[in-house]
Amino acid sequence: MKDASPQTIYLADYQPPAFLIDGVHLTFRLSPKATRVISRIRFRPNPDATDTTFTLHGQDLKLVNAQIDGADVSPTLTDNGLTCDVPDAPFVWDAEVEIAPDGNTALEGLYMSGGMYCTQCEAEGFRKITYYPDRPDVMAVFTVRIESDMPVMLSNGNPVGSGAGWAEWHDSWPKPAYLFALVAGDLVATSGSFTTMNGDDVALNIYVRPRPDEAKCDFALDALIRSMKWDEKVYGRAYDLDIFNIVAVDDFNMGAMENKGLNIFNSSCVLASPTTSTDADYERIEAIIAHEYFHNWTGNRVTCRDWFQLCLKEGLTVYRDQQFTADMRSAPVKRIDDALDLRAYQFREDAGPLAHPVRPASFVEINNFYTATVYEKGAELIGMLKLLVGDDPYAKAVTLYFDRHDGQAATIEDWLAAFADTTGRDLTQFALWYAQAGTPEITVTDQFDNGTYTLTLRQSLRDTDDMADKQPMHIPVAAGLLASSGAEVVPTTVLELTEVEQSFTFDNLTEKPIPSLLRGFSAPVIIKRQQTADERLFLLAHDTDPFNKWEAGRQFASDMLVGMVRDDAAPDARYLTALTGLITDKALDPAYRALMLALPSQDDTARALADAGHAPEPQKIYLVHESLRYAMAEHMQDRLPQIYAAMHVAGPYSPDAKDAGQRSLGNAMLGLMTRLDGGKQASAQFAQADNMTQQMSALRALVAQGHGADALAAFRTQWAQDRLVMDKWFGLQAVLASPEHAVATVNMLTQDADFNWKNPNRFRAVLGGFAANAAGFHAADGSGYALLADWLIRLDPVNPQTTARMAKAFETWPRYAPDRQAKMKAALQRIAHTPELSRDTAEMVARMLKG
Ligand code: TRP
Ligand code: ZN
Repeated sequence: MKDASPQTIYLADYQPPAFLIDGVHLTFRLSPKATRVISRIRFRPNPDATDTTFTLHGQDLKLVNAQIDGADVSPTLTDNGLTCDVPDAPFVWDAEVEIAPDGNTALEGLYMSGGMYCTQCEAEGFRKITYYPDRPDVMAVFTVRIESDMPVMLSNGNPVGSGAGWAEWHDSWPKPAYLFALVAGDLVATSGSFTTMNGDDVALNIYVRPRPDEAKCDFALDALIRSMKWDEKVYGRAYDLDIFNIVAVDDFNMGAMENKGLNIFNSSCVLASPTTSTDADYERIEAIIAHEYFHNWTGNRVTCRDWFQLCLKEGLTVYRDQQFTADMRSAPVKRIDDALDLRAYQFREDAGPLAHPVRPASFVEINNFYTATVYEKGAELIGMLKLLVGDDPYAKAVTLYFDRHDGQAATIEDWLAAFADTTGRDLTQFALWYAQAGTPEITVTDQFDNGTYTLTLRQSLRDTDDMADKQPMHIPVAAGLLASSGAEVVPTTVLELTEVEQSFTFDNLTEKPIPSLLRGFSAPVIIKRQQTADERLFLLAHDTDPFNKWEAGRQFASDMLVGMVRDDAAPDARYLTALTGLITDKALDPAYRALMLALPSQDDTARALADAGHAPEPQKIYLVHESLRYAMAEHMQDRLPQIYAAMHVAGPYSPDAKDAGQRSLGNAMLGLMTRLDGGKQASAQFAQADNMTQQMSALRALVAQGHGADALAAFRTQWAQDRLVMDKWFGLQAVLASPEHAVATVNMLTQDADFNWKNPNRFRAVLGGFAANAAGFHAADGSGYALLADWLIRLDPVNPQTTARMAKAFETWPRYAPDRQAKMKAALQRIAHTPELSRDTAEMVARMLKG
């Protein structure tokens, strides 16, 4: 390993910075192999500092020269930067460094993608650009001069001058280095404008490479304008510069980045057109545009004191983008989608060796903590706070938070103080949500006596590597009660569970009610309750809460799948009959009906089996899922063509929620029909499709049933020139390959001339798709584990961040039987013992092996 004992950073060790910055001027002389970065930084001793040594972060930099107040100095270079003797008074630091963006495959710092220069600085990439105090609590006003022969040169803030071969930008809002950005390339803009609620005009640009990308920017621009309006209307937050730029790049480690005034996006998260993007792509693009835009206030104007506070900006910004999507589309459908995601990724994380609190107490590599826990569970904490304090107090508290901390680097304590001060509530116990890892479990018992119904809730939280004997948390459990007639006798009430065990009573009832618990998924917890199949079917039919109505069907399906795997039980006809009734229920939104049909994933079933004390067998789970789907198709076969036809959307394509919902129900029908008709209808749809949703759904149905060869070939011929569509082609095959063929299919895909493995999107399509192919990845002989480990070992020196993230495919090892565990751990050990392994991947596999 490169780092024999990589250093662990602790939240408890936080120290204020020794020096603050009064202004930064950067000049970039761009050149692929030798870019010069000339910095002038005005430092001033921080009166609040205890440690006063002058240190700057720096990584992979060639220092050309340095001066303090104009006099040459010779700093001491260290492992991660430099130190230098400096005056105990304000001084000017000048330095020139050389860097090589062309060889930067890690995609951190300044790098090149598709012939353009771009940057990615969060979390700690700025130190690969120049020597600097690269920590979020050092905020400064930046002026940037770019020199190159590229036609477009962009940085943060407003443009202040340009000429032949140069451009200058000034950002008057103090910001941490992680929000710095620079782009230079041969780009074209799709432009618009926006007038803020304060009457300020803002120029909007989406920059992409010319043809064919320039034709795919209109939707992103529209989503941006809707986001700007929404943030004004709902949060009272206006934009604060003359210009807002977005740039699309092909090589990017994540979705997008909120750099001040210059958001940089993975091209997959901005480019949209009806023929190349699915409805799901459109929804995702809209959400990510909103997310990055919303960061302007939650992240940029108020930033984080240190990286332990990451959820302060990410949890809140995810919560805001979820609210936005709920407003733009269907709120119940969005809530179900978010719960599905939370359970698929965050509950899975919480259940395994990578469990960590929403605000971790320590880390080795911060890039490893951009997780579902920090983001999605972090967002759930905001939602719980809002539910506990109420909508108006929530709005007041957030306004107070902005008023108090605008221009500052804040903490979770600051955030909670704004709520405590607004509402007078004591949030000490609520704060445990930020510190205690794991998904709380609530067991429920109930009793009915003389007209009084008593619900007793008991909470528990498992020990994790970092903490044992956890304290009870403050959990809002939204509950309603139904009578046997189906009438609601007690409407939704929030029960505040704060003790380990607590009882709640409801009086004046004429019969024992049926409880509907955790309505709207009011807390990120697992409800453990012995519930009869009849009760679930009752709630599926009668619950007035759309989330819990769906949840009842989901739980029914989950239990049934467990029974089918464990006891070879047959599919339950009552479930099939109930589903058939629901999908034909015209009172329900088609998107919601489609969600009703979506079974738990194979990974969900594996987790449910493990929870029930039964080691999962992925191949068996696969077969059981297949047989249940087949049973659904048979049971519903008379209705399928009719609903399929009724869901047909005529007229020009629109990605709106209504049309997308119809297509999703129609395509759910198509998936089932393809199990019975040998692919007839899907082939017809594939041939006729005039948008990617219809084309892709048909292709998926065909490939899933083994009828996909011709369609795959035709698809490739049609889309060979479109890299984003080709990612779909690669990904679909990896994820849908049948268990026996998955390893061979992935080996074939990785030998394809178009498998550009250094591009994260393409790598993720194939290897991420494979990891999501549960029965293929978990091949009994361990060949799937070996295949992924080989590729991770190969990618690590090229791109540590993406490697470490994808290594999480192994996080579920503890749930399997010993022989499979041994194979998974052997693959992890092999990665761990790779010479020169990156700090990112080393930390990730070490944490997994420890669990
Ligand atoms: N802050 C970004 C967001 O939430 C995500 C991000 C963090 C990121 N680190 C990154 C994006 C590295 C790309 C590369 O939107
Ligand atoms: Zn974010």
